[in-house]
Amino acid sequence: MEIVRRVHAMKEIAARARTTRRKIGFVPTMGCLHDGHLSLVRRVKDVSDIVVVSVFVNPTQFGPGEDLEAYPRDLARDADLCVAEGVDYLFTPEATEIYPPGSCTVVETLGLVDVLEGASRPGHFRGVTTVVLKLFEIVKPQVAAFGRKDTQQAIIVQRMVADLMLDVEILVLPTVRDEDGVALSSRNAYLTHDERLAARAIPLALRAAEKRVGDGEWDAAAVIDAARAVLESEPLLAVDYIAMVDPVTLQPVVELTGEAFLLLAVRVGKTRLLDNATLRRA
Ligand code: PAJ
Repeated sequence: MEIVRRVHAMKEIAARARTTRRKIGFVPTMGCLHDGHLSLVRRVKDVSDIVVVSVFVNPTQFGPGEDLEAYPRDLARDADLCVAEGVDYLFTPEATEIYPPGSCTVVETLGLVDVLEGASRPGHFRGVTTVVLKLFEIVKPQVAAFGRKDTQQAIIVQRMVADLMLDVEILVLPTVRDEDGVALSSRNAYLTHDERLAARAIPLALRAAEKRVGDGEWDAAAVIDAARAVLESEPLLAVDYIAMVDPVTLQPVVELTGEAFLLLAVRVGKTRLLDNATLRRA
């Protein structure tokens, strides 16, 4: 595996792969890799000839007072994990090269960015789409994988790709969970022992909502209440939002008709955790 730090070097590798007609598969990450990230790598490896993983803690998607400086970083460990998965290139650029002085162009998926996560984190998704487009331009992948765990992000990236007519196929892959159901996340590293135990209420809340739907409840408020009750029974958790939304527009649904996402964010101590479930009316 080659560790690539410079944009021009990564672009040359991508150009060479293109001329030899080898398919590039890409997994963008912020590092501190876990099995969730690696599940994306494995899937991309199955469908491409060359696998590129990026590790870049993107400053523009962190707001003032968020955890940019504290965000966990361990490139040596990430590199070992990538080697073990058969990754071909680990792209890890400097922020000054991705955002040189004077850069002022952004990408924004209007309407999708100011709800849910975006309401709590203004500017966050503008940072995500801007860096993902830059990374796509540098790595030139034919296929790129994102996790369902960050479902609003995945929907926004799919929208950007459609709207800007980018030639990249987006795979959105299932959330990988710990044995107790808690979704793997780099931010779980921030949790104390008690907070980690409290986080188990999150998957339980999602399961409670799914059960209500399975029992024939299609009223969004009733399904949300079922999930909220489980979260509120855990004193260390504070609900930031919990919503049932349309899978394309992210607008709230009043009644489940076809498919919808139940999205939630909770605060556990200083850490915000996200999770979601796909709900289907039988
Ligand atoms: P990061 O949080 O490192 O996540 C990288 C990718 O891994 C995202 O697509 C995310 O949804 C996926 N992922 C995280 N936890 C997962 C889990 N438990 N199961 C499956 N997939 C999981 O998301 C970002 O980085 C950044 O916003 C990025 C897209 C790289 C842009 O900077």
